Amino acid sequence: MLDLLITNAALPDGRTGMAVAVQDAKIVEVAAGLHAQAAETIDAGGQLLTPPFCDPHFHMDATLSYGLPRVNESGTLLEGIAVWGELKPQLKADDMVQRALAYCDWAVARGLLAIRSHVDTSDPSLLPVEAMLEVKRRVAPYIDLQLVAFPQDGVLRTAGGEDNLRRALDLGVDVVGGIPHFERTMGEGAASVRLLCEIAAERGKLVDMHCDETDDPLSRHIETLAFECQRLGLQGRVNGSHCTSMHSMDNYYVSKLLPLIAESGVSVIANPLINITLQGRHDTYPKRRGMTRVPELLAAGVNVAFGHDCVMDPWYGMGSADMLEVAHMGLHVAQMTSRKGMLACFDAVTINAARVMHRRLRAGAGLRRQLRAAAGEGPDRGDPAARKPAEGLEEGAAGRADAGRGRRAELAGASRQRRLHDAGAFLTGAATRCEGAAARARAALRRPRNNRTA
Ligand code: FE2
Repeated sequence: MLDLLITNAALPDGRTGMAVAVQDAKIVEVAAGLHAQAAETIDAGGQLLTPPFCDPHFHMDATLSYGLPRVNESGTLLEGIAVWGELKPQLKADDMVQRALAYCDWAVARGLLAIRSHVDTSDPSLLPVEAMLEVKRRVAPYIDLQLVAFPQDGVLRTAGGEDNLRRALDLGVDVVGGIPHFERTMGEGAASVRLLCEIAAERGKLVDMHCDETDDPLSRHIETLAFECQRLGLQGRVNGSHCTSMHSMDNYYVSKLLPLIAESGVSVIANPLINITLQGRHDTYPKRRGMTRVPELLAAGVNVAFGHDCVMDPWYGMGSADMLEVAHMGLHVAQMTSRKGMLACFDAVTINAARVMHRRLRAGAGLRRQLRAAAGEGPDRGDPAARKPAEGLEEGAAGRADAGRGRRAELAGASRQRRLHDAGAFLTGAATRCEGAAARARAALRRPRNNRTA
C-alpha cells in the first residue's frame, strides 16, 4: 500500500488530472487517473503540484534588518554595504537568529523550502556564521539551508579575510564565496577568484561568488571563474551570482564568453528584484536594466536560476520570500514573455535553483523506470517542456523523510501541506496561500516592522 496518493493535480508542464504516488518519502509514480490503495489520499482539486521553491541566493544574516541602524537613503549597492558595515559592530547573535527564524516562517508559508544563504565572514568574530549555523540546525526539519562563506568586504581587501573564511569552512559552512569586483583592483579580483577556487578544490567544496555585480562592462571576473573552474576540475560545482556586468558587455566579447561558461559547467544566478533596483544607478537615460543575459545564457546551455538576494535589509527594503514575485520580475526584465520563457522562469526558481544547490535526487524505483522509459522515447532534454515533468518531479523528491515536524508543521498548519512536503512536493501558487498561512505570514510581517521602529 502506498503512503500517499495525490490525485487530480496540475503539473508545471500543463498536464492536468495527474496522480502522484509516494512511498517511503519518494515519488514512485506519476500517471493520469492512477487509483491505488494508500494510507492517505489527497485530492489536489486541480491545483498546481510542483517541486518546492528554492532560493539559491540569499543573505539570511542581514534579512529583516531594514532601518538598522539607519535606512539606505540612496538605495545604492555601495551605501547598502556601508550601512551593513555600520550595523555589524552592533549585531547580536540572538537578534540575528530571531530575524532569520522569522524569515524562515515567511518562507515555508510560501512553499520556499530550500535556501542558499551567503554569510558574511569579514569580521574575525564570525558572529554571523555562528548565528546562521544555529539557524540551519533549527530549521533543518523544514528548510534545507545551505550556507556560503562570503567575504563581503573582499577576501584580499580585508585583513585576515582568508583566515576568517577558512575558519568559517572549518565550522561547517558548505560553500566558498567571494566578491572579486569589490577587491581593490581587477588584478586582485582575479587573484581572489584563483585563491578561493583553490580553497574549494582543496576542501571538496562548492563555489558561489558574487561575480561582476557592476555596470562596468570591463568587469570580467566571470571569465576567470570559468577558467579556474576548468583548471581545477570543478565543473558543475561552481556558480557565478549576479554577473550584471554581462548586461553592459560588448556583444562580440559575450559571443566568446557564453560558450566558455557553458563549457566550464558554471551556473549563473540572476537576482531580478535586486538587479533592476541596484544597477544602472549611474545612468541618466536610457537607464540600463542591469540583469545578466538570461535568455542568451539558457540558449547557450548554461543552468540559470533566480534568487531573492535580499528582503528588508540594507540593500532592499521590500520582499516577502515569495519566489513567484522573483520569477515575475525576472520574466519582465528579461522579456521572457513567451510560453517557453515563462516556463523557464518557473524552472529558475525551482529545479534550476535545486541544481545549483546540488539537492539530492531520490526518485523512487517506479519513477526511475518512467524516466528511463521516457529517455528511450528520445525527448529533447534541452526543451523545458520536454524535461520538466520528469526531472522536476525527480528533484522534487529530494525532500526529507522527516520533514513536516516541529516548527514548519506548526506554521503551515494544514496537514495537507505537511504531508505533501514529506514527499518533497508542494502545492504552490494559490494553494500555498491558504488563509491560515497567509494570516500567520501577515502576523510575522508586522513583527519586524515594530522592531525596526524601536
Ligand atoms: Fe547577494
